[in-house]
Amino acid sequence: MPKTTPPRTYRIKSFGCQMNVYDGERMAELLGAQGIAPAPDGEEADLVVLNTCHIREKAAEKVYSDIGRIVKDARREGGAAPLIAVAGCVAQAEGEEIMARAPSVSMVVGPQAYHRLPEMLARAVDGDRVTDTDMPAETKFDALPPRGSGRRKVGPTAFLTVQEGCDKFCTYCVVPYTRGAEVSRPITDLIAEAARLIDAGAREITLLGQNVNAWTGKDGRGRALGLDGLVRELAAMPGLARIRYTTSHPADMTQALIAAHGEVDKLMPFLHLPVQSGSDRVLSAMNRSHTADSYLRILERVRAARPDIALSGDFIVGFPGETDAEFDETLRLVDAVGYAQCFSFKYSARPGTPAAQMDGQIAPEVMDERLARLQQAINRDQLAFNEASLGKTCEVLVEREGRHQGQMLGKSPWLQSVHFSGEAQIGEMVRVELAEAGPNSIGARLLEKVAA
Ligand code: SAH
Ligand code: SF4
Ligand code: F3S
Repeated sequence: MPKTTPPRTYRIKSFGCQMNVYDGERMAELLGAQGIAPAPDGEEADLVVLNTCHIREKAAEKVYSDIGRIVKDARREGGAAPLIAVAGCVAQAEGEEIMARAPSVSMVVGPQAYHRLPEMLARAVDGDRVTDTDMPAETKFDALPPRGSGRRKVGPTAFLTVQEGCDKFCTYCVVPYTRGAEVSRPITDLIAEAARLIDAGAREITLLGQNVNAWTGKDGRGRALGLDGLVRELAAMPGLARIRYTTSHPADMTQALIAAHGEVDKLMPFLHLPVQSGSDRVLSAMNRSHTADSYLRILERVRAARPDIALSGDFIVGFPGETDAEFDETLRLVDAVGYAQCFSFKYSARPGTPAAQMDGQIAPEVMDERLARLQQAINRDQLAFNEASLGKTCEVLVEREGRHQGQMLGKSPWLQSVHFSGEAQIGEMVRVELAEAGPNSIGARLLEKVAA
């Protein structure tokens, strides 16, 4: 590739899960520390980072169409194409293929190597094409500039990655290969990062991990802590109003964490606990280490600890070999739980995963039909959950302005999107009465501001 001048502006596009959003923010800080600024809205950036997701086929294919579009746009504008870096899980899984298939890409950087982006960039400016998909022993967290550097403010809600990677090896899933083994960040680093986020304006922190409830650490006296211990430490921080965590695995849903839901006020009454299927045969073929029944029993204990908890889950329809009767078991499980919200996906065969080699791959039309039925059930329950909350008063953390004049948006404790009109600033906590339910949001009446 020809030599270029060092980039002055960047744009980062993150796809996939919240961990990628977090990684995108850290890369932004890293580039900011190099004197590279975010490109103003509507302007071409000198450096584009595509922070990619490999979880389903469509997500991975998007990368190539995005690269094509970036190059085409630059040509149409008559300018030089920007430097393109592919980061995230597709970079990790298909680094070499990207380099071969997309000659306009000059950097490929995996999710555990992006702290080395500045060195890569220097080489790319010199005309090299560089790939770094190592999973080095020294973690990126130790090498990155301190959180919040290069930026003065964060929004009222912030993400904090506390755990990464996965040792569960569900047979359909690429994450253990793209993110590596389970690693927990030390509690002192997490408290320090949380303090910086709070100083910069965060009032709600969502703890992130591929298996966030597998987080382990030690307290000041060297005693072992689980995620519940971390939640309690964070809850003691003044200025922080709300704590959430995602995504958890049923196998790591300890009684101590369940108990924390009943005891820690700042821990919001919401639990995202993916189950994937209601059929024990399918769950076993998925290597999920729980049954439909053991999952339901966990939820019973969670509801005993925190009766108003809102539940959320993930489902895959059309896993290889899934029969109509097995799919019906999934619908029955949904009926039994009454979720507040859910994510549901058509099974996507991923290269290198055991399920991709299994017999009985399901026809796309069958998957479409099952997904439609499942989503109908989920939407019904979501609306029912929202309708059941009408008349309740609750706190809402104001996150942004709405589309209509004077309208403000935020989240209820149960993670419902709430809109209301009235005098309120972004970052304020207000008390509202929930008044009007839609399938995806709730209209509310502003009652009063809650003192910080
Ligand atoms: N670690 C989390 C979530 C990982 S990915 C967990 O175990 O729950 C998020 C969701 O994507 C999964 O819960 C699953 O429902 C879905 N998913 C993962 N691999 C998939 C595949 N190959 N096809 C379709 N959906 C998939
Ligand atoms: Fe993937 Fe399963 Fe790990 Fe979740 S627990 S990231 S679905 S392998
Ligand atoms: Fe996608 Fe990687 Fe997250 S595959 S879902 S971006 S961990």
